[in-house]
Amino acid sequence: MHPLQCVLQTQRWGPLASVSWLLLRTCRALSSLPSTAYPSPEKQQEDGVQKDFSSRLATGPTFQHFLRNASAPQEKPDMEDPPPYVTVEELLGRQRKVYLETYGCQMNVNDTEIAWSVLQKSGYLRTRNLQEADVILLVTCSIREKAEQTIWNRLQQLKALKTKRLRSRVPLRIGILGCMAERLKEEILNREKMVDILAGPDAYRDLPRLLAVAESGQQAANVLLSLDETYADVMPVQTSPSATSAFVSIMRGCDNMCSYCIVPFTRGRERSRPVASILEEVRKLSEQGLKEVTLLGQNVNSFQDSSEVQFNNAVSTNLSRGFSTNYKPKKGGLRFAYLLDQVSRVDPEMRIRFTSPHPKDFPDEVLQLIHERDNICKQIHLPAQSGSSRVLETMRRGYSREAYVELIHHIRESIPGVSLSSDFIAGFCGETEEDHLQTVSLLREVQYNMGFLFAYSMRQKTRAYHRLKDDVPEEVKLRRLEELITVFREEATKANMASVGSTQLVLVEGHSKRSATDLCGRNDGNLKVIFPDVEMEDINNSDVRVRAQPGDYVLVKITSTSSQTLKGHVLCRTTLKGSSAYC
Ligand code: 5AD
Ligand code: SF4
Repeated sequence: MHPLQCVLQTQRWGPLASVSWLLLRTCRALSSLPSTAYPSPEKQQEDGVQKDFSSRLATGPTFQHFLRNASAPQEKPDMEDPPPYVTVEELLGRQRKVYLETYGCQMNVNDTEIAWSVLQKSGYLRTRNLQEADVILLVTCSIREKAEQTIWNRLQQLKALKTKRLRSRVPLRIGILGCMAERLKEEILNREKMVDILAGPDAYRDLPRLLAVAESGQQAANVLLSLDETYADVMPVQTSPSATSAFVSIMRGCDNMCSYCIVPFTRGRERSRPVASILEEVRKLSEQGLKEVTLLGQNVNSFQDSSEVQFNNAVSTNLSRGFSTNYKPKKGGLRFAYLLDQVSRVDPEMRIRFTSPHPKDFPDEVLQLIHERDNICKQIHLPAQSGSSRVLETMRRGYSREAYVELIHHIRESIPGVSLSSDFIAGFCGETEEDHLQTVSLLREVQYNMGFLFAYSMRQKTRAYHRLKDDVPEEVKLRRLEELITVFREEATKANMASVGSTQLVLVEGHSKRSATDLCGRNDGNLKVIFPDVEMEDINNSDVRVRAQPGDYVLVKITSTSSQTLKGHVLCRTTLKGSSAYC
């Protein structure tokens, strides 16, 4: 199948299938309600409703119909006009206490904040104590088999909690949110009868309604994927008030369709949040005193805000040299370079990072901006996945090893001192020993500062599942993974050694977990830096001696390193602007 066809088919049939499934589930859940609330199928038949439905079905919904129904704003719960089968009181949560548990990536941490923001507005209370909870929601991950297994195991524990619940308390409700809800849908409800609600990544606005339906003892689900839901107007609630940094979601979904990856199927099509709402959130975080934001998305640098009509020009995306996409080039809109520029202007004392980018979208203007702007961290995550061009092709990554290495050189020339990290998969379908050695040699050649390494895990629905064979034995995958980890550590240690004797700007996070007499923070490259908690000079006021607090910038002279951490002694408290002369 042509790659484009593949993407279009997902758009055409994937979510549509979800629509009908959603309706089916909701009808089943509602069929036990009084007939005044919702007529039974038999009653519908009598009324001729079914006949009308059949005739409508014959004409079939159009694609436009799907787009309309899939768009998020229609999913917003309307408190003044609730659906006929739930009361306003039920929608308003009755002060039930919600316990949220997050698994997986940083996107899920952000999604947890969005889900909580929706529920808080609906009158729910938050608890950090599992025993106290009336509602337990797990925000789940599907990227690898192991991530899902963790959730199945957790559900067994929660089952015990539910069955042991005292009759004097309101029944405990359990919900599965996020990627696993989207991927497994009815399998979860059928296998685990104790699960009350399912909400896919684009259905968090619907949580109050789903929970209201669950109040009647029925299972409820919404796994609709949307083409435009970005939760732009749902300001995530900062869960840790003492935090120095925050994640700001700028886009959702992914159109890349790498052959091994489930994300396009669980999180849907790529869509960007309007620039204005991102800037508003960053401004708020700056006013709250936060010192670092990380722009978040599956493909942050493919950002394209087309919400402002005047920017919908015909200019195509500027891809990195030697890179291609699995989809038609995108045109127009406000791009990542513009967003990064705007975000970095909000507060010069606020550090800006972004994750996760795709190597294809690094035009010179983005690299130039990172180089020029003091508060944009000189740190780039460049997921390679493999060092073998042959494997990269079967992964459908859209680049060869040579193009990737050329990009690395170009980035290092454009941003001297840049810190690089990457993701790699060991044991992908058809990976030979020779392919594996090429990945080892790429790790040696690039000498990354940080790495995220995984054994390949076959995922249903993906192209690799349908077209390729998961033929690398598990023990070989694990052995190759071990080898990659060892090589990565050796090279990272060497790379970090080069920083001994240098002065680094560190954003203080708090005390080190290992020692109450040490402080811990992160340098520009996002590496952990540990240093003794002692009095120091303040660069802006030489009359006083201060102790660094979370959120302070300090200069640290590096004295020793490992593959993961730097150690040193603190020189003074400073500001981000004031530090440029020293680092
Ligand atoms: N198996 C193993 N690792 C995977 N990743 C994505 N899908 C899979 C899979 N099926 C890894 C990739 C990606 C990171 C987030 O997870 O390296 O960059
Ligand atoms: Fe998955 Fe590839 Fe999209 Fe990353 S770019 S989320 S690996 S499909």
